[in-house]
Amino acid sequence: MILYFSATGNSLAVARQLAERLNEQVMPLTEAVQQDLTNEKRIGLVFPTYDFNLPPAMPEMVARLHICPQSYVFTVVTCGSMVGNCIWVLRRILRKKGIELAYSHKVSVPDNSALAFGRNPNKQLGKFEYVPARMEQIIRELQAESHTLHYSWFSLLSWLLGRPAVTRGMIHCMGPKVNPAKCIGCGICAKVCPMENIRLQPQSGLTDKTYQVAKTGDHCTVCLACVHACPQQAFTTNGLQTRKERQYRHPQIHLKDLLLR
Ligand SMILES: Cc1cc2nc3c(=O)[nH]c(=O)nc-3n(C[C@H](O)[C@H](O)[C@H](O)COP(=O)(O)O)c2cc1C
Repeated sequence: MILYFSATGNSLAVARQLAERLNEQVMPLTEAVQQDLTNEKRIGLVFPTYDFNLPPAMPEMVARLHICPQSYVFTVVTCGSMVGNCIWVLRRILRKKGIELAYSHKVSVPDNSALAFGRNPNKQLGKFEYVPARMEQIIRELQAESHTLHYSWFSLLSWLLGRPAVTRGMIHCMGPKVNPAKCIGCGICAKVCPMENIRLQPQSGLTDKTYQVAKTGDHCTVCLACVHACPQQAFTTNGLQTRKERQYRHPQIHLKDLLLR
């Protein structure tokens, strides 16, 4: 079973390819926490790097998983370039459950956080050129049930940047906010939010008519799924209005693939 967490499809595309080649099934991590996975002999965790660490919501979700300690547990982390502490943090969480992480590797893909700053994710599509070779290596090694943790960057800087306090600061700065004047109440943001953190609420406008607008809550994990999926570019991140040309989704993933409800 391949469990995934994905806001813009990079991790979902990797999870799907692994599932196809390893003859496994895929399941969103948000759903997996409610399942009994103790009969699964092989469990893969595919997710993105956030701020050199796991997505803030992931430690709790992984801790809640029902998996057999004898399962072959592996991870493939997607990232813009550096996974920082991800693999070590995940290994520590799994160890607390009596599970040893057998294998890890990373796949570098367009950085979806760059929509608010830095390079446009849609101008990083050249990174996909290197993905097939990396995926072939990963599949080969997983088929052989390799016990190898591939990692490339673990340093004081990534440790410092991956501290919970820094992550909280990042959520505060990057956390998406809705501009009610642009929201048309389509609800796509609420459907892609893995945290069920967005609700539509009635709002009174300048006219008497009441209309629905999206409102974010307190459980944001800064995946930016809502920001990338909004057809009106109604979200701000870092206080900056989203620009359409910077909204990103993995080229082989459709919006409907990312709708969680
Ligand atoms: C809040 C946030 C922080 C990120 N931090 C990092 C990072 O520290 N290092 C990195 O290489 N990529 C970083 N990224 C980029 C994502 O890890 C990358 O684009 C990932 O493939 C997105 O996966 P998804 O499409 O499955 O959501 C970050 C993305 C977000 C949204």
